[in-house]
Amino acid sequence: MQPLIVANWKMQLADGDVRALAEELRALDLHGVDLVVCPSFTALVVVREKLVGSAIALGAQDCAWEERGALTGAVSPADLVALGCSHVIIGHSERRQQFGETDAMIAQKLRAALAVELRPILCVGETAEEWKRGQREAVITRQLQGAFGACDVTFTKPLIIAYEPVWAIGSGHAANPTDAVNAAQHIAKTLLDICGRTQRYDLRVLYGGSVDATNVRAFLDADGIAGVLVGSASQSVGRLRDLLAAMRE
Ligand code: PGA
Repeated sequence: MQPLIVANWKMQLADGDVRALAEELRALDLHGVDLVVCPSFTALVVVREKLVGSAIALGAQDCAWEERGALTGAVSPADLVALGCSHVIIGHSERRQQFGETDAMIAQKLRAALAVELRPILCVGETAEEWKRGQREAVITRQLQGAFGACDVTFTKPLIIAYEPVWAIGSGHAANPTDAVNAAQHIAKTLLDICGRTQRYDLRVLYGGSVDATNVRAFLDADGIAGVLVGSASQSVGRLRDLLAAMRE
């Protein structure tokens, strides 16, 4: 299977920058790599138009927990599909921490996305405090149990879970690949406990948090890591090109 790169542009790019970056993406050599770009909601249409005919997939950074409703300011997962999105990031730590998203909201979002065949990229991971207290596995277990509950969901496509230690995001200090391997094993085992009896699924674990051209190869070489979720190193064409080149080394 080809490695997957999910590019999370967050709210970092102004309209003109998004247009320029999306235009430049077409010239990248994506041989051997699957790329999903996740611009902000307002840029989805323009990016989709720039990517017509390319193999790059479009993802959103969040979605509402229902298809329709009185939810001022929210964006329906069904509308994301209509706009051309195939993926959606759910439960990113910035949403959990800065927008107060709870495990219960994340569980509903996951179900709302799956209901319209929008592929969720579920983010899990511990804060620096939790890491210091040795609670990484407990946090991942809690987040996965919160998201999947009694596993009343159906996975028709591979299930993508990103291990993103909160302390590594945007800090310039990535986790060590061995920690990512341990987290991936813990995710696989926990999910098997939760869903293994009722479901067959194909799990792909990504690592995210300060991934760049200097460390991407080490994560992709790590056992059980199927790709990377990348923030800042995906927000300019130069850094993306360097990342892709490093992946092929
Ligand atoms: P970063 O962001 O690559 O800038 O650390 C990753 C993320 O937020 O998913």
